[in-house]
Amino acid sequence: MQIRVATKEDVDAIRSVHISAFSEAESALIAKLAVELLSEETNPPVLSLVAETDGEVVGHVALSPVMLDGTETCIGQILAPLAVAPNHQGCGIGTRLIKSGIEQVSKFGGEVLLVYGDPEYYGRFGFRVETATDYLPPYPLQYPFGWQGIDFRQGEQDRQTVRIACVASLSLPVLW
Ligand SMILES: CC(C)(COP(=O)(O)OP(=O)(O)OC[C@H]1O[C@@H](n2cnc3c(N)ncnc32)[C@H](O)[C@@H]1OP(=O)(O)O)[C@@H](O)C(=O)NCCC(=O)NCCS
Repeated sequence: MQIRVATKEDVDAIRSVHISAFSEAESALIAKLAVELLSEETNPPVLSLVAETDGEVVGHVALSPVMLDGTETCIGQILAPLAVAPNHQGCGIGTRLIKSGIEQVSKFGGEVLLVYGDPEYYGRFGFRVETATDYLPPYPLQYPFGWQGIDFRQGEQDRQTVRIACVASLSLPVLW
């Protein structure tokens, strides 16, 4: 299995991974998000990674920039969405995708990597609810306990609470 940067050629495979991994209630919305993120033009760019086994795309994650609300100042990234095809789950592919994503965005120089998901899963990778409380999400959260972050600043002074803005395809209340 290899992790590589996704290209526009991967659109159909990425869509399929999300459609198969998420429940029927949310899969179309998440697959649309995953595909739209591939063509968002942002600075810094969106990072989309795929996991490939025997030439088949079996997992995908996207990491996109977050800005201080009302400005173009990028302060970090958000990891979303993430999915592994059901017949390939439980083999460490999600772990590899997340770890690669963390490693790559930590080089961008941002202060935080945010995620909105299950703390039982993301906690394994160093995401903490306490870190994310300083970063108010762009919309009210349906599951506030799922808002987590990794602080890349390594013990620098406390940050004042700020509101963040996301890229266009994540700026939809229904996703939050
Ligand atoms: C979550 C997901 C990406 C994990 O991918 P994966 O390749 O199966 O993950 P890994 O093999 O690296 O890790 C599997 C471990 O994570 C655990 N795990 C998976 N989903 C979990 C969850 N929601 N909460 C807690 N633990 C979870 C598994 O029980 C397993 O535990 P173990 O290592 O103790 O056996 C995959 O299950 C998936 O695509 N789920 C549907 C889509 C989804 O929920 N995406 C995340 C949305 S925020």
